[in-house]
Amino acid sequence: MTASLPDIPLRSAGPGFFVTFEGGEGVGKSTQIELLKAELIKIGKTVVTTREPGGTTAAEAIRLVLLGNQYQDLSDRSEALLFAAARADVVKNVIDPALAAGSVVLADRYLDSSVAYQGIARNLGELEVKALSLWATRGLLPDLTVVLDLDPTIGMSRVKQPDRLESLAIEFHIKVRAAFLHLAHLEPTRFLVVDASQSTQEISELIFAKVKSRLTP
Ligand SMILES: Nc1ncnc2c1ncn2[C@@H]1O[C@H](COP(=O)(O)OP(=O)(O)OP(=O)(O)O)[C@@H](O)[C@H]1O
Ligand SMILES: [Mg+2]
Repeated sequence: MTASLPDIPLRSAGPGFFVTFEGGEGVGKSTQIELLKAELIKIGKTVVTTREPGGTTAAEAIRLVLLGNQYQDLSDRSEALLFAAARADVVKNVIDPALAAGSVVLADRYLDSSVAYQGIARNLGELEVKALSLWATRGLLPDLTVVLDLDPTIGMSRVKQPDRLESLAIEFHIKVRAAFLHLAHLEPTRFLVVDASQSTQEISELIFAKVKSRLTP
């Protein structure tokens, strides 16, 4: 006997605007979020930033388990569930209220990271992990997802103190990179893939131009 996953109804951000930043380790996500935040503030937007896993008291506690090098026996499924649990918390307590208030939310990783890392690279199932995350977030999808695409050997060379996931073999990070490109290919309207080997300024200009073109005045 098999059981299929129920379809979760999707919802988008409105009246705010929800941008997520995705990509492997050290590709420049945090750098670009700060640069975009500064540009958006200059044009009068209210900006809220989050990072995953984390952003609420409970989610920060979950982060310690997910990234702590002492938790080497954490099972892959437990890892997927904990990411979803942390995401449920930050969506309910931070992202939903900010979007309801009309803010631009910039998230440092969101559900596509779960699909790429746990669903595809860990082989737990792309559709299963996406459904889990959509259940956790009550179907909240970003308006725009920026994938910073970079050779993982370059990204990993920028990581100073590797956490539990960053310590995985380069083959894992190569799979993650391919997974993000695959996800972007499936949803070309939601995703913007940027060549992250460019300068921080060049990347920032590309992202800001895209966001500006998508924001209602
Ligand atoms: N376009 C770029 N060119 C060269 N170096 C960069 C570029 N963008 C970021 N860096 C540098 O690379 C390092 C990693 O950047 P950053 O922390 O923004 O990446 P990240 O994707 O947030 O990493 P992590 O996955 O560890 O959170 C930093 O030292 C940053 O200054
Ligand atoms: Mg970062």
